[in-house]
Amino acid sequence: MTTPVKVAVTGAAGQIGYSLLFRIASGALLGPDTPVQLRLLEITPALKALEGVVMELDDCAFTTLDSVEIGDDATHIFDGANLALLVGARPRTKGMERGDLLEANGAIFTTQGKALNEVAADDVRIGVTGNPANTNALIAMSNAPDIPRERFSALTRLDHNRALSQLAAKTGAKVGDITKMTIWGNHSATQYPDVFHAEIGGRNAAEVVDDQAWIENDFIPTVAKRGAAIIEARGASSAASAASATIDAARDWLQGTPEGDWASMAVASDGSYGIPEGLIYSYPVTTSGGDWEIVQGLEIDDFSRAKMDATAAELVEERDAVKELGLI
Ligand code: NAD
Ligand code: LMR
Repeated sequence: MTTPVKVAVTGAAGQIGYSLLFRIASGALLGPDTPVQLRLLEITPALKALEGVVMELDDCAFTTLDSVEIGDDATHIFDGANLALLVGARPRTKGMERGDLLEANGAIFTTQGKALNEVAADDVRIGVTGNPANTNALIAMSNAPDIPRERFSALTRLDHNRALSQLAAKTGAKVGDITKMTIWGNHSATQYPDVFHAEIGGRNAAEVVDDQAWIENDFIPTVAKRGAAIIEARGASSAASAASATIDAARDWLQGTPEGDWASMAVASDGSYGIPEGLIYSYPVTTSGGDWEIVQGLEIDDFSRAKMDATAAELVEERDAVKELGLI
């Protein structure tokens, strides 16, 4: 067994938390040889429910679960955290766009950014799942000036996984045969799931599909609006799949993307692909040793360019709105 890793999770008594905690505790994130110390943050009224979740964690008798601490004080819970998964935020309900949550959820991320800045471990990595995820990550990052900006990311892995699954269904391929999928931009309906650089068994995915109408009128909107479709069907926003994607994203970040593949991660733009610097924008990235690098040199045609710019424009609007609210 190696040194325990402190994993902080916010919104731990929520829907996503109920899937996520058990997977982390069972070793799905850090492997069977790394003990996990869970640090769970909730708002005061949810602490009782969280105690119940902890009872269930106890009852699983996971050999990888070293300890669990719960509380409503971010400075205490984030103390020494090596990984912070910021899930806690109000989910949207039917008819809302994720941007409608900017004000409601933005304030959470100023407080948590400041607390992380003060007490997290030197090697902390911070993944934001709570919506609007990209802009919440921007808020947390802006309120944590001592933490390198490369340590913040927002979740677009769920969109990435949705895109893999849709493409597999269309082509009859196995999801495991598809590589180099990319989600560009915002975790919102403007995101751009890009099959033009993806490969199926090493062949260009767009060529395998050979159906531009399907890509434009079916694939892209289905992936981009999948969150709303789940809300419509379930009456509640995605939870198990969001937890699974949160694990996939953090695992790849810490342990590296597989050789010959990449992942989609929303990270602080350095201006790559003409995206305004500083936006938390989803790019294709490779990761190694806890660091990410944006995949460079992909050819971008006019179709892709327009979609990449449209989702960047929405992120600029969100950034300006939270600036106006004094959150960054
Ligand atoms: P939920 O309402 O079931 O749970 C949210 C939890 O957060 C609640 O228990 C609440 O008490 C807690 N919370 C609220 N404010 C908090 C604070 N300041 N500190 C700590 N905890 C706090 O919601 P959920 O379904 O688990 O979803 C959580 C968030 O994740 C939502 O914003 C949702 O839209 C988002 N989400 C993102 C993705 C993605 O792909 N990025 C996917 C699904 C859901
Ligand atoms: C999702 O994509 O399922 C989540 O972001 C929830 C939502 O509001 O769509």
